[in-house]
Amino acid sequence: MSSTEKKLAQSLTAESVELIPYLLQDLWELGSSPEDIIEMIQREIAEPEKLKVLDLACGKGAVSVNLAKALGCQVKGVDIIPEFIEVAKEKATVYKVENLCEFIVGDAKEAVEIEKNYDLVIFGAASDILGTPEQTIQVLKKTITPEGYLIIDDAYGKEGNSSDYYTRAQWLEIFTKTGVTLLDEKRMDPKAMEALNKEQQSHILKRSEELKKQYPEKKHLFDGYVKSQQAECDELENDLDAVTLLLRGTP
Ligand SMILES: C[S@@+](CC[C@H](N)C(=O)[O-])C[C@H]1O[C@@H](n2cnc3c(N)ncnc32)[C@H](O)[C@@H]1O
Repeated sequence: MSSTEKKLAQSLTAESVELIPYLLQDLWELGSSPEDIIEMIQREIAEPEKLKVLDLACGKGAVSVNLAKALGCQVKGVDIIPEFIEVAKEKATVYKVENLCEFIVGDAKEAVEIEKNYDLVIFGAASDILGTPEQTIQVLKKTITPEGYLIIDDAYGKEGNSSDYYTRAQWLEIFTKTGVTLLDEKRMDPKAMEALNKEQQSHILKRSEELKKQYPEKKHLFDGYVKSQQAECDELENDLDAVTLLLRGTP
């Protein structure tokens, strides 16, 4: 496995990256809530239709396509899984925003070195692809204009909990250190999170059962993926507060 694939497997908590497009075929939204992001932008950013947006680790383009449709802004989405990018392009056509959307296959780590001068960069991978939260913000800042915006989907560790996740207080320190201002934050409602996890897991389980019938010798892989996804859901429901952050660079 290449180091990129390893990172990818970690970010999706899978044992094998080949399974992912099949197991996730019933889902369009893979993490972020397009509605929450659109609401945040409408509340905090003037003239959203003029924004030039980069959606890093865009998955199947659920955020990009919905943003282009609702706000009329230009969006470029980058994801490492070619099958996801194909779906994103199809969705853009279905939603009639193909003129506003561009989707490319690429590694977010490389994209942050090339992509510059965006008004808004969305990073919805909730993983350490770009390093620690501090390194992530520093590197993302280089892709936006001096007073550009960042939207990061991540999670706060609960106070007094043993998880590795930073608490809200620790995130606030990082914002100060990296020179960004927290403009808005939306925590996901725990009940809604539970319902979403349950629904998504049921799709993944169904697809994994299909694969088990077809390839019984690889049962451990499919079971491993379902188990790792369940562990992620449990962590999100019990130890963390999923949060979408809107940050602004300070020149
Ligand atoms: C949790 S999903 C979120 C997808 C999307 N933002 C959404 O909310 O629907 C994480 C995404 O990160 C992508 N990914 C993982 N590692 C990556 C990398 N190094 N470069 C680009 N994309 C990556 C995966 O393919 C996956 O689509």
